[in-house]
Amino acid sequence: MANILSGKTISAELTEIQKQQVEELKKRGIQPGLAVVLAGENPASQIYVRNKIRACEQTGIYSKSIRLPESVSQEELLKVIDELNQDDKIHGILVQLPLPKGIDEHTVIMRISPNKDVDGFHILNAGKLFTGLKGFVPCTPKGIMYMLESAKIDLDGKHAVIVGRSNIVGKPIAMLLLNANCTVTICHSHTKNLAEITKQADVLVAAIGKPKFITADMVKEGACVVDVGINRVDGKVVGDVDFEPVYQKASYITPVPGGVGKMTISMLMQNTIEAAQI
Ligand code: GUN
Repeated sequence: MANILSGKTISAELTEIQKQQVEELKKRGIQPGLAVVLAGENPASQIYVRNKIRACEQTGIYSKSIRLPESVSQEELLKVIDELNQDDKIHGILVQLPLPKGIDEHTVIMRISPNKDVDGFHILNAGKLFTGLKGFVPCTPKGIMYMLESAKIDLDGKHAVIVGRSNIVGKPIAMLLLNANCTVTICHSHTKNLAEITKQADVLVAAIGKPKFITADMVKEGACVVDVGINRVDGKVVGDVDFEPVYQKASYITPVPGGVGKMTISMLMQNTIEAAQI
């Protein structure tokens, strides 16, 4: 039976530390500020954005929520980003993805000042991660590393297998695990004999976006399993891992909900505090 890596517990502890960090900054006349831009009406995005604003309130971070209609033009969105780049009260800018049809994600991300890119999606920050320089690290992968460190999981020389190759999770977590001296394999939808590879994993990261995709027969006894999935099935949120049977086999497992998702928001707060400290 696995130990549960609770994002809920770890993030609650972190919130207390972050409150102190915000207080310290305020004494120096700086209140960290985060702008969250949501274009369109995507229901999942609306929930994520609401949770991000709520986390700002809990930690004492100033927040500015900007809602734009689905019909917003790329030019209008870029103008909003230009204004936020110039706004001294704003240290972090987050544009919630996905964007409405017709807006180019890359162009929008590239318009955010790299110093305010608390998502770590700008190619300058992605390149820094790639080369091992200090920059903003995307929140979900950063949160996964924080959880593994909190549980003192030894990563040195371990085989980490990541299922999923997105820019938001798969690729950056691969870099972070590589920097932590793991041997890293990235699998994806075209990978042949997937289960043969996942069964070799000491650390298995599931970031596929398919409910209960990772079954117990794909997991090595004693593996550490990190579930990044947030899938809605029959009104319930489930991960990419078939939790119960995998829980019986793994040494560590992150639950859904209450796992990685909580850490993503905590790391967004952390990146915003760090942006204010620059
Ligand atoms: N959509 C899903 N995850 C994320 C995230 O971490 N940041 C942003 N900006 N959009 C997302």
